[in-house]
Amino acid sequence: MMILKSPWEIDLMRKSSRIVAETLERLTGLIEPGLTTLELDRYAEDYILRRGGKPAFKGYRGYPYTLCASVNEQVVHAFPSARRLEDGDIVSLDLGVVVDGYYGDAAVTVPVGQVSEEARRLMAATREALSRAILAVRSGNHLSDISHAVQSAIEAQGFSVVRLFVGHGIGRSLHEEPQIPNFGPPAQGPVLKPGLVLAIEPMANAGGPDVMILDDRWTAVTCDRSLSAHFEHTVAITENGVQVLTSLTEDESPEDTGR
Ligand code: MF3
Ligand code: CO
Repeated sequence: MMILKSPWEIDLMRKSSRIVAETLERLTGLIEPGLTTLELDRYAEDYILRRGGKPAFKGYRGYPYTLCASVNEQVVHAFPSARRLEDGDIVSLDLGVVVDGYYGDAAVTVPVGQVSEEARRLMAATREALSRAILAVRSGNHLSDISHAVQSAIEAQGFSVVRLFVGHGIGRSLHEEPQIPNFGPPAQGPVLKPGLVLAIEPMANAGGPDVMILDDRWTAVTCDRSLSAHFEHTVAITENGVQVLTSLTEDESPEDTGR
């Protein structure tokens, strides 16, 4: 069952989501060759606690860290480690925060130093897929319009959509119904309406779509070891329009467009 949120619940999710956004912005500013992903994890945890939130992933189904830091062929859910970021890497940072029992969740993929043309194109296509998906979020549209928007944008750029993971409803749990596949035909599934809050998270690979989970039981990598990118926002449908709760900038948020 999809759980609709009241305006005051969405206000609480705005708080947790804002901490997610601010933390990711700061982490992005720190990224440079030589930094370890464990250093990023420590920074994230300290910052979230100082801002009055709690890391949402730490302890979730036994996940041991605040941050997921997935480098190059790692798709999602990689553990922060003593690995040093190198010039030319791309790193996906995925972060969740909870405030007063309400969750926010977002991810970005960031270049380390100078990256290849292919890496730049992959990141741009995945970011664009998330933007298109957010434009498909409007009262009266169907859930799979979001899925279709993601798939179309990624495949139009010659990349492949990861099918093993999905976006999700979010609220008093990190993962709620509905699941949001990143592929599919338009106009299927439940109708979107005010009160729905969704974490939309396209993942795209430079090579084939297949991924596998490593022996640590968390890290997902591309089977062909091609590069992978991931972007995510927490998006609320309110009576006054659609708002991207994990965005710090107005232009990423189609609020006030009357949708
Ligand atoms: N954004 C991811 C998701 O929604 C991150 C989950 S990591 C976990 O699945 F550790 F919390 F599982
Ligand atoms: Co998520």
